[in-house]
Amino acid sequence: MEDLAPRPETLEPIERAPVGQLRELQLERLRWSVRHAYDNVPHYRRSFETAGAHPDDLRTLDDLARFPFTVKDDLRANYPFGMFAVPREQIARVHASSGTTGRPTVVGYTRDDLRTWSRLMARSIRASGGKPGDVVHVAYGYGLFTGGLGAHYGAEELGCTVVPVSGGMTERQVLLINDFKPDVIMVTPSYMLAIVDEMERQGVDPRASSLKVGIFGAEPWTEDMRRELEQRLDMHAVDIYGLSEVMGPGVANECVETKDGLHVWEDHFYPEIVDPVTGDVLPDGELGELVFTSLTKKAMPVIRYRTRDLTRLLPGTARPMRRIEKITGRADDMLIVRGVNLFPTQIEELILRTPELSPHFQCVLTREGRLDDLTVKVERRPNADPDAARQAGDLLAQRVKNTIGVTIAVDVIEPEQVERSMGKMRRIIDAR
Ligand code: DLL
Repeated sequence: MEDLAPRPETLEPIERAPVGQLRELQLERLRWSVRHAYDNVPHYRRSFETAGAHPDDLRTLDDLARFPFTVKDDLRANYPFGMFAVPREQIARVHASSGTTGRPTVVGYTRDDLRTWSRLMARSIRASGGKPGDVVHVAYGYGLFTGGLGAHYGAEELGCTVVPVSGGMTERQVLLINDFKPDVIMVTPSYMLAIVDEMERQGVDPRASSLKVGIFGAEPWTEDMRRELEQRLDMHAVDIYGLSEVMGPGVANECVETKDGLHVWEDHFYPEIVDPVTGDVLPDGELGELVFTSLTKKAMPVIRYRTRDLTRLLPGTARPMRRIEKITGRADDMLIVRGVNLFPTQIEELILRTPELSPHFQCVLTREGRLDDLTVKVERRPNADPDAARQAGDLLAQRVKNTIGVTIAVDVIEPEQVERSMGKMRRIIDAR
């Protein structure tokens, strides 16, 4: 694989600024942001007052811990535009995340917010190894989802040639990759797998494609999945993170030269890790729930927004800004099977270490009496012998028992039986 590390002089000065300077900037921006939320969003004024916190209390970054959390339900309760801090006429765009139940969560951006987002996405693409002049194939969905348009404007901002394909029509994705010869692809890792499968089905060698880097996010994926994608496509696989409520993609991104977790763009977002049960702030290095406060957003500031994503904060490496460890699970995706907690990513890891099994799998939960059962439905690799694949399935069940400590059933199924996602993959089927 090509060395794609950006030259230091192409980085923004703040990306290389010493940590002390960064903290000063954060405090100044944090004070503005908390004040802005208090002055302009009735929800924040109420919740701060109930908690006995006032924007004037913010003297150090640690004082943020006095302020109450914001959760998804707060956004729902203020549906659709109640969390906006500017008059609706100043909102240049809205996005929304579907959510599993009822009303979507609505987010809004001013023109300035959109400019900031584009710049942070440009920064993210550059950190991933993209550069001006590259052709960028965007296969994240366009629409209310932030993935497509977020990637699109970021790639334009960096000076790339954007191919706005959106998700779906997998055969055509392959045609466009062959003909337009993109350097960069931006897509969910699970949909990338579907595209690679389709390349192979068409007799196209994925390793011979023009792609040099894939910028994968919007769902959890493992180091084993990185190896799988890098191996099959002969390109760098880099992790991008974000969420609509905080902005969209580009809140944090890996650097291609280290691929050791995602640098949080701390000049715009202040991260904390809290104990998911007590809400206490945990020291850097400890595992907990990721919480974000926006530092510059005008249309919809978020103060201590609980992401439900579990990770830890780590010191900077390729950049001075802190990293988050690759996110392996959301609190919402945690399965509790016979008293044992596990995440689908743990299953993904073990599957990818079993050569006969493909990474196309789903976790099906059923209930027998009062006990929950987990069946992993996993496709055999097209080139694997069906008997050998069945045995590999038994081995997988044993490995899950040995490493995670829970008894599961493994159902090895034929290729193409697991529904392909065009965006975020649904790993859990709750049939209880
Ligand atoms: O998924 C934004 C996005 C688009 C990120 C494209 C990256 C690329 P939402 O639909 O609001 O926004 O979903 C946000 O997705 O809280 C995580 O649980 C999950 N997520 C996003 N990126 C990653 C990642 C977009 N790199 C939710 N690793 C977040 C693990 C991720 N989970």
